[in-house]
Amino acid sequence: MTHLDNRLALDSHENQRLQAALKEISGQVEVCLDQWLPTMQGLPGDRVLECMRYSTFAGGKRLRPALVVAAAKLAGYTGAGAGWVGSAMEMIHTYSLIQDDLPSLDNDDLRRGRPTAHKQFDEPTAILASDGLQTGAFELLADARCHDDAAVRLEIIKLFAQSSGARGMVAGQMVDMQWEWEQPANLGVDDLARMNYLKTGMNITACCEAGVVLGNADTKLRLAMVTFGDALGRAYQVFDDVLDVTGTAEELGKTPGKDAKAGKTTFVSLLGLEGAHERALQEAERALKVLESFGEEADLLRLIARYCVSRGK
Ligand code: IPE
Ligand code: IPE
Ligand code: MG
Ligand code: MG
Ligand code: MG
Repeated sequence: MTHLDNRLALDSHENQRLQAALKEISGQVEVCLDQWLPTMQGLPGDRVLECMRYSTFAGGKRLRPALVVAAAKLAGYTGAGAGWVGSAMEMIHTYSLIQDDLPSLDNDDLRRGRPTAHKQFDEPTAILASDGLQTGAFELLADARCHDDAAVRLEIIKLFAQSSGARGMVAGQMVDMQWEWEQPANLGVDDLARMNYLKTGMNITACCEAGVVLGNADTKLRLAMVTFGDALGRAYQVFDDVLDVTGTAEELGKTPGKDAKAGKTTFVSLLGLEGAHERALQEAERALKVLESFGEEADLLRLIARYCVSRGK
């Protein structure tokens, strides 16, 4: 990895604290996902579930569930529902990755350190597995395990449907593809920031908001978490574009250099590597600023925000 000066990097003590928290959350999430996606060996269609599990249990960072848990904590909610809600978003996210990697989209062979779903299985199975993950996520969100109040569950269902749907992630992915096909000459940073917000930022924001909804917190905290999530989501995708240039396949678990090869317009292609890196840090700083009025109950969110722009994968 190229070394760019990073004022938000975590020191070893902070990194240990964060890794311990992430490990605990991932552990909970793996248990939830394992229960929700049982093996169905010998039953009709078991191949699709095998593929769903293959892509889900492949060592993702589980960043989105961590955001749900951390935002819920800030809102005073420490129940098991946050892990379940986070798992539902992880299923939505995993479905989006399977589709993102398909030959007709980004055409990637490597994901989370393994062959992509369509490489390991085949395209029809990968497409059907992504469908199964998406619908399964919403079935889970309707389940009382997420929260005992049905009104809370309904609100989160709506949030996640909006953030991942045709006015959210799906729209962002569409624009990303159209720009790749059409190669518009005059794209600027604002266009790109908008596309990033749609394809990545909205789901990240929805995780932060869902945590607050679980905790039944007031509008002020909800608005703070929306502003935090928005800035963090933007930072996250810009840093992903940076990693595409600086990371190795081993570090990233996915093929580096894909964006330039596909002719994608990214913050790196517009601002250069250092400019894009700086932009990611500035967005993360904007997210951190939102947390200034909170005490140590926001520490996990602070660590996550800094990690998002200093991670190696
Ligand atoms: C990759 O997401 C796709 C983007 C939105 C940038 P992550 O970087 O969160 O991937 P995993 O879940 O850890 O594999
Ligand atoms: C994908 O963005 C965002 C999604 C909604 C899946 P990228 O195409 O940059 O993600 P990677 O780099 O393949 O993980
Ligand atoms: Mg893509
Ligand atoms: Mg991709
Ligand atoms: Mg990328």
